Amino acid sequence: MKILVIGGSGLIGSKVVTRLRALGHEAISASPSSGVNTMTGEGLDAAVAGVDTVLDLSNSPSFADKDVLEFFETTGRNIAAAEVKAGVKHHVALSVVGTDRLPDSGYLRAKVAQEALIRESGVPYTIVRSTQFFEFLNGIVQASAKGESVHLSTGNMQPIASEDVADAMTAATLAAPVNGIIEIGGPDKIRMADLVQRFLTAIEDPRQTIADAKALYFGTVLEPDSLVPGPGAKLGKIDFDTWFKQSDFAKA
Ligand SMILES: NC(=O)c1ccc[n+]([C@@H]2O[C@H](COP(=O)([O-])OP(=O)(O)OC[C@H]3O[C@@H](n4cnc5c(N)ncnc54)[C@H](OP(=O)(O)O)[C@@H]3O)[C@@H](O)[C@H]2O)c1
Repeated sequence: MKILVIGGSGLIGSKVVTRLRALGHEAISASPSSGVNTMTGEGLDAAVAGVDTVLDLSNSPSFADKDVLEFFETTGRNIAAAEVKAGVKHHVALSVVGTDRLPDSGYLRAKVAQEALIRESGVPYTIVRSTQFFEFLNGIVQASAKGESVHLSTGNMQPIASEDVADAMTAATLAAPVNGIIEIGGPDKIRMADLVQRFLTAIEDPRQTIADAKALYFGTVLEPDSLVPGPGAKLGKIDFDTWFKQSDFAKA
């Protein structure tokens, strides 16, 4: 099968390209660094021509509310138009668990807009909603740090390793379109403040987490299970300890 991986140079994209090629598929990585820009449309029609499936694993370079909305709306429209022109048979995208439950988050509003454009495109699709990646823990720390402490929601999360995400995205790409949503998550549900404390301790960072029900997570207050997948979710096998031992943080 000929598969275009938009964002094929990214964390998840690069792992999926490797997996698809190992399975004998023609997986083409597309991103600005290889001359395909889904914001401007540069190189997009040529990249999509003759492709069976398009997998969108891109992300906005800026997480500012206005920038991320512009990114997912503009790229969503450009990708859908190119796919319709080329007769693409399956569009696969990676979204976020709870995206439609948290309208106060600018990032998640942008993912809602991306999902709507996919549904309205007329191209058969599969949207995979994932929980937070373990690799994103450091980003959560940076976004929530205040001096010597890290202020975090009392909400739960069920983080997943990028290797498990890549396996799930590969499987969704090779399966028939579901024209709906698949949820994926990690093996364990844990309070965000507790997991981040485990992470800080593991990297020997002396900062302490403070759990606060009103602490904002990327602009939004969380209910206990806002970020937790439903009972039908496919769960990865890699837990925090296994992930950490193999991560760049442990090697540092
Ligand atoms: N982080 C999490 O916990 C989490 C959880 C659930 C879902 N997700 C979703 O997972 C997806 C992938 O995230 P990731 O962390 O793997 O991303 P990433 O490592 O930041 O990679 C982003 C990719 O997007 C590409 N890109 C940026 N601007 C582009 C443009 N204008 N045109 C085409 N490609 C462009 C980049 O290309 P260059 O390398 O050429 O710049 C890169 O390949 C995102 O959609 C995100 O919403 C993330």
